[in-house]
Amino acid sequence: MSRLVYVLNGPNLNLLGKRQPNIYGSDTLEDVEAGCRSVAAEYGFDLRFQQSNAEFQLIDWIHEARETAVGMVINPAAFTHTSVAILDALTTCEFPVFEVHISNVHKREAFRHHSYVSLRADGVIAGFGIEGYALALRRLGTLLAAT
Ligand code: DQA
Repeated sequence: MSRLVYVLNGPNLNLLGKRQPNIYGSDTLEDVEAGCRSVAAEYGFDLRFQQSNAEFQLIDWIHEARETAVGMVINPAAFTHTSVAILDALTTCEFPVFEVHISNVHKREAFRHHSYVSLRADGVIAGFGIEGYALALRRLGTLLAAT
């Protein structure tokens, strides 16, 4: 059985570490990937870790994942709050989907309080910094071990 898990990151997350470190911290996206790879190795997952600033690219990766993957962790970044298209793509997936935000979006501007992706996500983590990714992957590990 496939053990492929996707971790997808949306716009501006390539600037992690440089972008508003008071909000997002000083770790880079490479640090996030390294953390995810270490948890993936623990659980025997194959990991596809991707970032894009383009909505269509994220959608194409979701379409790819729906054919090949057993789970997904996604930080859609600003598309969280705007993208019906990403929600629609995720609703075509049968595997568990966990939404992660580095910052606590509920403590921020009102427009960040609504998430289209949450209408599909099986769980949401916000405000745990980059540790949120590892927590979401561990939850996937627990769920997939039970199947
Ligand atoms: C974010 C929160 C979003 O509101 C924001 O647009 C991002 C990052 C987070 O990880 O905290 O780019 O998803």
